[in-house]
This record gives sequence, C-alpha cells and structure tokens, in this order.
Amino acid sequence: MTIPCTMKVRAIKIILCILLLCATLSTPTPVPVGTFRSECHERHFWLFVRSGFLGIMSRFDVQDHQGVHFLSGRKATECGYTMLFNPHGDLVFRASFLACHVNNQGDSEFRLKVWLVTRQVNGRDLGYPFLLHCSAQWPWGFRELVCEESYMEVSINGPVPAALHSGQEKKEVGKSGMMFHRPGHTKEEVRPRTMTEASALGYHVSESGSRIILRCPYSSPLSYTIKEKGVELEVVNATILYPHQGKVLAIDATVACSMNEATVDGTHLLWPVPHVLSPLVHGRFRDRGMRIGVETLALSESVIKDRGYEINLRDGVVEVSVPFGAEGTHIKSGVLEGQYSQSLSVDLFYMHQWEDDRWPLTQHRSFRFLKTAYVPRTPILTDNTISSQKLFSVSLGVFPPDVSLHNVTGGREGDALSWVQVPYPNGSHSYQLHAPFSHSSVLQKYIDGGYRRYTLPLTFSLTISPHGEVFYHNATIVSDVQEQTAPEPPRLEGKCTERGLLVLLHYGALERSWELFIGDRRLDWELVEMGGFTVETEEDYFSVEIPLYSPDMTYEEVSLQGVVGRLEVSVVDIDTLKVENSLIHRCTFRVRELLVCLPEGRMVVVTDTSRTIPPTQPKHTTLLDPSCVPQETDSVRALFNFSMDSCGTIATVEGDFLVYENQVLFPKELITTDDPPSHRDSPYRLTIQCRYPAIDTGIVSIEHPVHPTFALSPMLPLKHTQREASRSGQYVAVVCVAIVVMGALIAATLKMLCCPIKM
Ligand SMILES: *[C@@H]1O[C@H](CO)[C@@H](O)[C@H](O)[C@H]1NC(C)=O
Ligand SMILES: *[C@@H]1O[C@H](CO)[C@@H](O)[C@H](O)[C@H]1NC(C)=O
Ligand SMILES: *[C@@H]1O[C@H](CO)[C@@H](O)[C@H](O)[C@H]1NC(C)=O
Ligand SMILES: *[C@@H]1O[C@H](CO)[C@@H](O)[C@H](O)[C@H]1NC(C)=O
Ligand SMILES: *[C@@H]1O[C@H](CO)[C@@H](O)[C@H](O)[C@H]1NC(C)=O
Repeated sequence: MTIPCTMKVRAIKIILCILLLCATLSTPTPVPVGTFRSECHERHFWLFVRSGFLGIMSRFDVQDHQGVHFLSGRKATECGYTMLFNPHGDLVFRASFLACHVNNQGDSEFRLKVWLVTRQVNGRDLGYPFLLHCSAQWPWGFRELVCEESYMEVSINGPVPAALHSGQEKKEVGKSGMMFHRPGHTKEEVRPRTMTEASALGYHVSESGSRIILRCPYSSPLSYTIKEKGVELEVVNATILYPHQGKVLAIDATVACSMNEATVDGTHLLWPVPHVLSPLVHGRFRDRGMRIGVETLALSESVIKDRGYEINLRDGVVEVSVPFGAEGTHIKSGVLEGQYSQSLSVDLFYMHQWEDDRWPLTQHRSFRFLKTAYVPRTPILTDNTISSQKLFSVSLGVFPPDVSLHNVTGGREGDALSWVQVPYPNGSHSYQLHAPFSHSSVLQKYIDGGYRRYTLPLTFSLTISPHGEVFYHNATIVSDVQEQTAPEPPRLEGKCTERGLLVLLHYGALERSWELFIGDRRLDWELVEMGGFTVETEEDYFSVEIPLYSPDMTYEEVSLQGVVGRLEVSVVDIDTLKVENSLIHRCTFRVRELLVCLPEGRMVVVTDTSRTIPPTQPKHTTLLDPSCVPQETDSVRALFNFSMDSCGTIATVEGDFLVYENQVLFPKELITTDDPPSHRDSPYRLTIQCRYPAIDTGIVSIEHPVHPTFALSPMLPLKHTQREASRSGQYVAVVCVAIVVMGALIAATLKMLCCPIKM
C-alpha cells in the first residue's frame, strides 16, 4: 500500500526572504544519513525528521510558483497540513494530496516543495528544501473523508464550477455559498452563507482537479456531536451551493469523525469506532472493507496476526485492539502511587470504505495518535537459581528503554549488589543479577528435613527517563539446599560470675532465628532492663548475665556454706516454636549475711554476731521465742530457718502489705555478771522483716528499711550500708525486699528475693 515516491533534497545555496525580518538561511552542512525519510501513503505525503537534527525551533514552509508560504497553525489546518512529534521525538510532517500549494496534475501526480527551517542556538535559521512527489495509485472514491489530528476533510468528485477553472488554480470557490444544518437548528443558522462568511467560521472550501474540498477544524461553530453505538461523533452537516450551467448545484459535504480516545483492557489498547457512521450513509450500506496501518505502514492480515493486533466487529462497533509492547507501538513508563506503570501509544491509521444509495464509493480515513492512561504493571522477577551451584540468579524485566536500574540492595545491611543489563533486539532490556550463597546479604537458616534455607531479600531502585521518577521493586528469593551433615544446633553454656550467672548462647547453624527464654519469660529489652541483666553480642555467641538478686533467679539451698542460685534457660526457634536447646544452671554464692523471705511463708536468715563488743556467741542466739534456736552455726554466724507463724513472729498489716517481723537476740541470762549494770537489754538484737503485698499486682518490689534511716534499691544487693548502732546500742538490720511475681504467663506465683543484711 506504500506508493513509490521520489524525494529530492537539493542542497543548494538559496537565500530566501521568508520571515518578516528577512532572515538569512545558511547553507546546510552535510546531513547524516537517515535524518530525513519521506513516504507516500494513500492520500498523503509524509516527511520524518530525526529528533537529533532539530534545532531549538523548527517549522515547515511550503513553496509554489507564487513563492514561499509560512504555515501558521491555522493555515496548516485550513490547508491540510499536520505537524507533530512522534513518541521517539521525531518531527512528523503530513500533507494531504489535496492540500493548498500542492502541484496537482490530473488528480494523479502530486508534487510539493517543502522547506524545513530549523533555528540554531546562535539564532540563525537553516533551511532544507524537499521536493516531495507522489502519485495516486489507489483510485479515488467518489467521496473521500479524512479525520486528521486537527481537522476534518471531505472531497467530492463532481462537476467543478466553471467559474473555478476560469480563475487561477485553487482559487476559492467564488460567488457560491454554503448551508449548515444542526439538530434543533434555528432559521438564522440555516440561512445560506457566502463563502467568505463560511471561511470566517473556519470552513474552507477549495477545488482540486475534479474534486471539491471542504476542510474545517474540530469543534467548529456549526459542528455538533452525537453518540453512535456509544461512540462520540463530531458532525458538520454542510451543503455547498454553486452555480453550474445556469442552475444552482447543491453538494452534500457532510463530514463525521469519531472522537473517542483509546481505553485499556488488561494488556490491550482498545479503540472503538462505529461500523456505520450514520450521518454519512444514505440508504443501503454495503461494506467494501477496511484496513489499518501504523504510521505509513499498512498492515496486511498476516502482519496484523503476527503482531497480535485485532479488528473485531461486535454489536455494530469495530474495535481495534493493540497489545502492549506489540511492534509499532510505543511504551512510556511512569510511576502511579509509587507503582511502576505504563502508557501505550500507537499512531493508528484506519480506513473504511462503503457504498450506499447516494454515494457510489465513500472512503473514510482516520489518523489517530492513540495513547492510553497509565496502568500499573508489576515488573516480572524470574528466579533462575540452581541451588546446587550455590548461586542466586535472577532476572527482572522486561523494561522499555526509558527505565534504568539505579541500584540493587540486598538484605539487612542494604549491601549494593552488582548486575548486568541484557538488551533485546526490539530495544527493550532486562536485568540479571547473580549473588553467591556466601554473599553477606544472604541469610541462612537450618530448616526441617535436613535442609538449609538461603534467603536473599532484594530491593531494586529504578528510575524513568527523562524526568528521573524513582520506583522500587522488592522481592525475596529463597533456595533450599540439602545438608550433607546435620547442622550443629545452638549450644548453651553456663558460667558463674561474682555477680550472678552468665549464660552463653553459641549460635551454631541457626542464624538469628531463635529467641532466648529465661525460665518462662522471653528475653527482651524490658526484661533486660528490669532484671538488671548485662547482654553482649559477639560474632558467634551471645551472652547474658543474670544477677543473683534478680527476680528470675530461683534459690535452691541456703546454708552457711552459701546460697545456690538456679536458672533455667532455653533457645526457641521463632518460626517453629521448637525448643532447640535448654540448660539448667546452678551457681553457689558465698554470703556472709542473708535474709530470705520464702514464698511459702518461711524466713531464712544468716547473721554474723561477732561484731558486738564483746562478740556474741552465735550458738547462744535465739528468736523472740527463746525456744527457737539456730538451725546451724559456726564460730561467727548463725542460721535460723523458721515459719512465719511460729517463733514469736509478729504479723501486721501496713497499707497494702503484710509485714512479718521477728528478732535475733542474745538472751539476758547469758550476759556475764561483770558487765556494767546499765546493760539491761540484750547486747545483740537484729530485727528481721519480710513484707508481702496483700494484693497481687504483677511484679511488685518493695523496699523497706526497718529503721527509717535506711533505704535501698530493691534490685541491687546491699553493699556496705551503715554499720550504725541505734541509740540503745543495738544493731539494726536492714531488711530489704520481697518480690511477688504473678500473672497468667508465669507459672511460679511467688519468688523470693534475698538481700544480705549488713550491720
Ligand atoms: C443534514 O441536513 C439536512 C437538511 O436538514 C438533512 O436532510 C440531513 O438529514 C442532515 N444530515 C444529517 C446527517 O443529520
Ligand atoms: C522485546 O523482546 C523481549 C525478548 O524477546 C520480549 O520479552 C519483550 O516482550 C519484547 N518487548 C517489546 C516491547 O516488544
Ligand atoms: C539506591 O538508589 C536509591 C534511589 O536512587 C537511593 O535512595 C539509595 O540511597 C541507593 N542505595 C545505595 C546503597 O546506593
Ligand atoms: C521495599 O523495601 C524498601 C526497603 O526495604 C522499603 O522502604 C519499601 O517501602 C519497600 N517497598 C515496597 C513497595 O514494599
Ligand atoms: C528450712 O526448714 C524446712 C522445714 O524443716 C526445710 O524443708 C528447708 O529445707 C529448710 N531450709 C534451709 C535453707 O535449710
């Protein structure tokens, strides 16, 4: 369907006065091959100019025997010229064979001289002349219509008024007139108008050889729109009147163009057009076929099929469907609400011809630069990893040329990964990325069934030219590899320190997928802070030190030899909640003095009685009830172990607390007779006290000095506090804390806290 055409670029030095300022056109420098391309296509001249060649401003002038004519926007529309940029940025010039200033020889040979004028950075204009020559190989239809980008055109084969022949070529139809009709028109509108009046309204009538032509822009004053099969049509119902052989001839010059834009259906662009444009059809409609093309290329049925285009006739509507990415289309990328999106455009040519009772043959042509809205598209990630090669291999794409990958980051630290771009012959490309399983971004984990799972989280940052919009694509790729040997499970190790118990977790094969439990409680920052724990993270192990006086400690034995602290620790897999390993660890701590308030209502106290002058014999001390003697003594210390409902213990209620109090005494009877008589009281008296909250409110810590001058923090063991004698010369002990641990999560209802008693 492309007609051979000749084009001559004459690079001769011509100086032309084409601008008011009479600018000088310089001699064009040699032009790279492929800069210009011209084609003849059915009823139009086409000229393409490569984007890189255009100056800061470009325009087209046309030249005929009368001189050079500047094509303003309005003149171009009236005269049948179209200029636009295609999606590649190339300048496209399209002229109707019936355009003004075309040298028409018998409606079969057409010549047009065009000047491309480009303005250079230095303000100089360069002119490039083209002689376009086409011959009409397709027979002319009796009536032909063109729906161009900016105008509608109808040409009718008819007796051209003799008046026109007598005048100069392509002179406006003189002494003639026009009539326009609109639904619901007024009388004023219907009245005949002179050609001058019509021209002022934008209706341009001319003749060419044996045809009469009407051309007008869209949305002209006397146009109207109708809906045909749901598609909007713009119609101008015009009649051209002119005298012919003594009579007035009336020629129907009605034009109608479908105005709808393209829509998207999934991955297809759709453009519907009514099969029958009823304003243009009179009587019986006889379809004589249709064809489509892209730019100047006519698409044969096999090409249409190869490219995946479709033309469907459904319910009186012809629907042209073009798949995204098909040859001849252009994809523009964008970002819509953070998501990668694409818009498809295609420069579509659609031609339909028919016969009806009035017109032997009508040819109707549309040029439509169709463009869809942006639709979200998820980039496709293909995982080509072969796990036995221990190498992640992925590709992301396919992207149109306006997308470029800025970087890829992986994993927790956001390490940059390297990639390669894979180009395709059609101009699109994809990205390929390789990362060995040993890469620092790759996480590993042992999973059930003897497999090790390698995970690579990826964030692709991509940009879109020319405006540099950024979008991201996140993905996580996973590969499981059978392990040769069973992995080493995480190992727990316990150590005893001066302060408390130290637990070490050696990671083994598990990476960051475990949690540590101290007893029944998950180790988190809250617990660390509350318990006064010290944590440390090393390359291959993790350690936590739990102080002896922490509420999470269990005390197993209290004797003069020391106190045994016991801790139960376990490692739990986060995902499976499986206990990977557990440890029960005990440490013995030497304490000189100690008070233990046991949850079952028992007090154990170890006290040093040697500090009095003279020293008190520990084995002779008793509680308030003199029958309660130490359970154990050595040379300086005594250990009492008694139930709070015995040995003379006094129970009182203080606010929200139950307070149990007793005293360790050295009975009077044993005071030697040579002591001064003023010493009537026992020289040794230690008040011991346990406090329990009466209401359970989770974890409660209480501090309570027996003597109001003492205070202490519940979590810290008492260091050397005052060793102060009371007024009466007695030693007063500071009893510290009872801790109650309650709650559904915690199995143990009550734990105890020990504090050494210092005097
Ligand atoms: C155009 O106007 C004429 C005169 O009123 C009318 O007969 C004809 O049906 C109109 N054509 C269309 C397409 O409306
Ligand atoms: C380009 O070619 C690639 C590889 O053959 C293909 O996957 C892709 O769909 C094509 N893209 C377009 C826009 O034609
Ligand atoms: C990757 O690119 C994004 C987007 O440009 C940028 O914000 C980020 O800092 C880059 N990351 C690295 C590691 O370069
Ligand atoms: C992708 O990951 C990055 C960093 O990991 C995050 O900031 C971003 O919100 C994620 N984007 C999406 C779409 O999930
Ligand atoms: C205290 O006495 C009770 C009852 O005789 C006994 O079960 C417990 O083991 C004793 N505790 C210590 C620390 O000796």
